[in-house]
Amino acid sequence: MHDIIQKLEAKRAKARLGGGEKRIAAQHAKGKLTARERLELLLDEGTFEEWDMFVEHRCADFGMAQQKIPGDGVVIGYGMINGRLVFVFSQDFTVFGGALSEAHAEKICKIMDQAMKVGAPVIGLNDSGGARIQEGVASLGGYAEVFQRNVMASGVVPQISMVMGPCAGGAVYSPAMTDFIFMVRNSSYMFVTGPEVVKTVTHEEVSAEDLGGAVTHTTKSGVADLAFDNDVDALLMLRRLYNYLPLNNRERAPLRRGDDPAERLDMSLDTLVPDNPNQPYDMKELIVKSVDDADFFELQPDFAKNIVIGFARMDGQSVGIVANQPLVLAGCLDIKSAIKAARFVRFCDAFNIPVITFVDVPGFMPGTSQEHGGIIKHGAKLLYAYAECTVPKVTVITRKAYGGAYDVMSSKHLRGDVNFAWPNAEIAVMGAKGAVEIIFREDKGDPAKLAAREAEYKEQFANPFVAGARGYIDDVIQPHETRRRICRSLAMLAQKKLENPWRKHGNIPL
Ligand code: HXC
Repeated sequence: MHDIIQKLEAKRAKARLGGGEKRIAAQHAKGKLTARERLELLLDEGTFEEWDMFVEHRCADFGMAQQKIPGDGVVIGYGMINGRLVFVFSQDFTVFGGALSEAHAEKICKIMDQAMKVGAPVIGLNDSGGARIQEGVASLGGYAEVFQRNVMASGVVPQISMVMGPCAGGAVYSPAMTDFIFMVRNSSYMFVTGPEVVKTVTHEEVSAEDLGGAVTHTTKSGVADLAFDNDVDALLMLRRLYNYLPLNNRERAPLRRGDDPAERLDMSLDTLVPDNPNQPYDMKELIVKSVDDADFFELQPDFAKNIVIGFARMDGQSVGIVANQPLVLAGCLDIKSAIKAARFVRFCDAFNIPVITFVDVPGFMPGTSQEHGGIIKHGAKLLYAYAECTVPKVTVITRKAYGGAYDVMSSKHLRGDVNFAWPNAEIAVMGAKGAVEIIFREDKGDPAKLAAREAEYKEQFANPFVAGARGYIDDVIQPHETRRRICRSLAMLAQKKLENPWRKHGNIPL
């Protein structure tokens, strides 16, 4: 028995070494951690249960029969993050560059299937040269098996991808179908075709970093949610994100009450909005002052900055926050911001996380680039997302809510549960100046008359009471009591039940 135990330990030690000391050193030299080191950081100490450590590939071509490394380039299993179950896979770049073989794919599929059965999230740490070239179509089949599971798991258990090395070709489509993507600056990249192919086909010269690095995907493409300087920061932030999420679509996110009283008032909010309606202010100040402990986990902070999204807690309960940002493009909705917010609202809705919406929106962005880019279809995504959303929805209009954008931003008409407005709110078809220029066109040559008309319009429409008179606004509240009113609303909505009619699936304007 002693011998057998020793043999087992020797086998395990070999598997733990992956591609060997030399390749581990090369991985470290690039500033990257190994697959196992990453899991150690991600999971609570001593909780990792590894599966399939002894799986090997079955390829015999290109001399592969002589090159077998136990585990075959991916470490899988389950463990805990702050005491909550999670399934993980971590690709090992030291083994055939983390390339995906048939057996490697089967391992990933195994934990995805198990995660679905028990209802727990899947986190994938991607670091791979893509399809295992020696295996050809068997590898492509393996990818497709993973893709299929990504889709089946979507909206059932949260899926998070951490891209920590290369992720190229069709391989990018697995992270793309997960709920969140984190990347590491200067060591991770994602692209459908790499710089060499780009050069051959389009004659463009571009570095891997510019084409698909963490900065590119968090500022230009919006493919990734957050970028970090190194593996350690990225993994620790992933642990933080995890705390906001439920384990699956039948559960609620964990309640974590702190010391911040739900009834707390913040008098400084009474002067947040400037007197001049054209002057911007930072909506993030309102978010930070309203949520528990000023703790806001923002997603995509450097992409489509005219809308702000992220997680926070209100009286201990996880909430998703969507807010127009008057500091950028005056808070207008455009293609990118609509897509960014729509996907986030759908995530919250799928996973029972209430949505809080802070509104200051002068409308949709005008212009040919927006129209020709399909703002109609893309703006409709956000409208659709809010309209189908059945989780508790609390909306606060802090200033402008004009036109179609008023309707879109979680209005009463889209089944907003509680809709508040600050006393200075302007809920109207458009701003006073634009409105009088259209309806009093005949007064165009008479500035004094036009100014009087504008003042009259402002008086009549640029306030929250017209909407309040119709019950579109449940109450006009003082800015300083915003937190208290939201927390009370969420408590009232705790047992909310609302179901959409049965259907195979809707047809969101993609
Ligand atoms: C098998 C691979 C591999 C692959 C890398 N390796 N990629 N083995 N299949 N796809 C091996 C290398 O032979 C090497 O082995 C080790 O991994 C490390 O690779 P290096 O090239 O030394 O590392 P580095 O210089 O860091 O370059 C990393 C890389 C490069 C940029 C990823 O390896 C690369 O370009 N690989 C090929 C990428 C590719 O074209 N993949 C197919 C894409 S198409 P040794 O033994 O020397 O350590 C695809 C389709 C997916 O993935 C479709 C899904 C539907």
